Amino acid sequence: MIANAVTCLIAHWFQQCYIEVEFRERQATPRMTDNPLKPSPEIKKVALGISGGIAAYKAAEVLRGLQLAGCSVRVAMTKRACEFIQPLTLRALSGAHVIVDDYALDNPDPIAHITFSQTVDLFIVAPATANIIAKFANGVADDFLTSTYLACTAPVLIAPAMNPTMWHHPATVRNLSQLRKDGVRIVDPDSGEMACGTIGPGRLNDPERILAAALELLAKGRVTQDLADERLLITTGATREELDPVRFISNRSSGRMGFAIAEAALSRGAEVSVVAGATSVNSPKGVRVTRALSAHEMHEAVMKKLPKATVFIGAAAVADYRPAQRAATKQKKSQSSLVLTLERTRDILGDVASARTNGLLVIGFAAETNDVLFNAQEKLRTKNLDAIVANDVTRIDAGFDSTENAITILVRDGQGPLELPLMSKLEAAHRILDEIVRLRAKTETSAVAGL
Ligand code: CTP
Repeated sequence: MIANAVTCLIAHWFQQCYIEVEFRERQATPRMTDNPLKPSPEIKKVALGISGGIAAYKAAEVLRGLQLAGCSVRVAMTKRACEFIQPLTLRALSGAHVIVDDYALDNPDPIAHITFSQTVDLFIVAPATANIIAKFANGVADDFLTSTYLACTAPVLIAPAMNPTMWHHPATVRNLSQLRKDGVRIVDPDSGEMACGTIGPGRLNDPERILAAALELLAKGRVTQDLADERLLITTGATREELDPVRFISNRSSGRMGFAIAEAALSRGAEVSVVAGATSVNSPKGVRVTRALSAHEMHEAVMKKLPKATVFIGAAAVADYRPAQRAATKQKKSQSSLVLTLERTRDILGDVASARTNGLLVIGFAAETNDVLFNAQEKLRTKNLDAIVANDVTRIDAGFDSTENAITILVRDGQGPLELPLMSKLEAAHRILDEIVRLRAKTETSAVAGL
């Protein structure tokens, strides 16, 4: 009888705890949706662990970046980390209880190390000290963060930070090698002057880089088939406008962004066809690619394929001008100077938008060096597009010929620019596709409402 009453009491108490945890989780989500930068339709849950190093304060930037990218974030800290940054700061930013000691009476979840690690899509530790790395590598579970690591079923990403001597120590090298074998993704620290005055590798990598690696891991786990009804036609790469049989005018585009969109769309169930100019990277497996080197050839190929497409994305860097004359033989350097006459090429994107029928969605790119948003907005309007992806091509870490991109998406009749942080081109591609899914839903709703 007494045993029954005690069991009921414990059961009731556990239920209360779960209600509390569930309530807090539900509270955290609206914070994301309140964000002026719209979240991904599929909110990803991330556990962010912080261990005790001088770089602990940078974890707040990682947290904000994750939130801006549409993730819901819960935070756990080691006791030492709390000496560098207050849990209250992370609680205010994440909108949820920060777990330091799961035995503490104020911890709302009695088995937090399990719920925390097994309901998330990604577990990040930034900064990860030499101590936490050693514990992870050897399966030590003597506090909340280390027990969470052992119980974690999600991909794990760590960003080490420590003194260069500690970083080079054979024990740390051994532990990191073990973690790599265990499947942990590591964002290596970068080099520079440390807080202790030493110069060398060990400084926590840029929060933007940590974020880019995190978003890439999250993108890999994406399985939705939300583009199963769409047929995408994508242009990519640089066009080449020939002057003679050996010389041409071209640009630095590698074709990565268009191919990344093709790869992402294919994984989400779309039928994908790419018309590619000159590219310096391989096309993704399973994507049909038609080569069209000049702006004229690309225009022809696109117009031929257009009737089958439901979405057109112009990611190619198409020449606006081509030589008015192409010499049939290699031109000799007979004159002291040379004046070239160039003529306008057809605007493929503009022509596609003017010819659109049957709910075709038309998305363009705006590669700009100045007044990025203003110029993109103008192209969105004058070319009559559904959306435009703007990027600043003067950035050395993003855009042309880079594996990463920092894009801003502007949507016709949208709520304002969606400015995204630096991320891999594959993740950026997924975010563009998320907007296309939203646009399609919006056009279908308007059609049903007869608008
Ligand atoms: N584009 C196109 N055909 C062209 C030129 C551009 O399809 N002849 C497309 C690009 O693929 C991109 C968009 O138009 O999606 C904008 O390209 P961009 O080079 O940024 O701008 P332009 O329209 O060429 O204008 P400007 O060079 O004056 O900035």
